[in-house]
Amino acid sequence: MNGRVMAAGGQPGGRPSRQINVVLRNQEPQILAKDEAISVQAAKSVTKHTHFQEIQGELEQLVGLENIKELVFEIYAFLQIAQMRSEAGLLSGAHVYHMVFKGNPGTGKTTVARIVAKMFQKMGVLSKGHLIEVERADLVGEYIGHTAQKTRDLVKKALGGILFIDEAYSLARGGEKDFGKEAIDTLVKSMEDHKNQFILILAGYSEEIDFFLQTNPGLPSRFPIQVEFPDYTIDQLIQISEMMAKERDYILMPQTILKLKQHLLQEKNDSLHAFSNARYVRNAIERSIRHQAVRLLEQYSDGSPGKLELMTIRTEDLKFERK
Ligand SMILES: Nc1ncnc2c1ncn2[C@@H]1O[C@H](COP(=O)(O)OP(=O)(O)OP(=O)(O)O)[C@@H](O)[C@H]1O
Ligand SMILES: [Mg+2]
Repeated sequence: MNGRVMAAGGQPGGRPSRQINVVLRNQEPQILAKDEAISVQAAKSVTKHTHFQEIQGELEQLVGLENIKELVFEIYAFLQIAQMRSEAGLLSGAHVYHMVFKGNPGTGKTTVARIVAKMFQKMGVLSKGHLIEVERADLVGEYIGHTAQKTRDLVKKALGGILFIDEAYSLARGGEKDFGKEAIDTLVKSMEDHKNQFILILAGYSEEIDFFLQTNPGLPSRFPIQVEFPDYTIDQLIQISEMMAKERDYILMPQTILKLKQHLLQEKNDSLHAFSNARYVRNAIERSIRHQAVRLLEQYSDGSPGKLELMTIRTEDLKFERK
């Protein structure tokens, strides 16, 4: 083994924490010097570790999503060990990575899919690591044969990366005569024809996805990785808002945070299924940034506000649309 992966801060005998320290043995130069073959191998492994640290860094930026962070590490560990097994002459059969992402809107599905695509590219599983995000209208055509063609074209575009289908169950909604079925059949065929050349991710509401998979018996076994994206708690949503403001060089006043918190509590209670989680707070923050701009222009009609004022989002900037 050329590198050592440690789960730091793990409980003795318990689950390791998601904070992973990658300790590279290339810090021990005598190993690299010993043999050219080993040195090439070590260099490859070092690069992969560095790449993984990059991915890990991106994941750490995301609030919550502990199950997803663990899954990504699991895949990384599997890929590393598979490589070592193959070098040791052991069997390392092809693995199926098609996935189902279940969750309400704005829970981070697309964001995670992008990071996962990048990881597979860096780990050498996918050649390009891009993400093609589509929905029913992109796949389904208007006449017989059109759908198969449209779907095949999109699969072609996704080769070397991930094909991400949002609200995948809408393909099954029209029943037997609907062209959606043709899209499903074409996708299943493409998964066979282009094995290991692309990864398919089906995304959408949990219950709808489950129902869709149940009613298409051939499908569940083709998607061995199923990931739940839970709704964010109010505290997580506040953390996400503060992060989003910070990323844009803004500060939320404590009273602004309180106002947002109260509003989110209300909104989450009222809208249940339709509440769009992190996307909702992103829109709220972006709207408050625009309102702050208008307020500042009015307030400082001659002269310009100071740096702190330019950064501060006050309670009056945070306005919510009436339902
Ligand atoms: N855990 C998180 N931490 C920080 N930002 C997040 C997190 N989850 C989502 N976001 C942000 O929220 C926005 C919406 O996320 P994303 O588009 O990934 O959600 P989604 O689940 O794909 O939604 P939809 O089902 O509506 O397509 C993005 O701007 C994303 O960066
Ligand atoms: Mg999305």
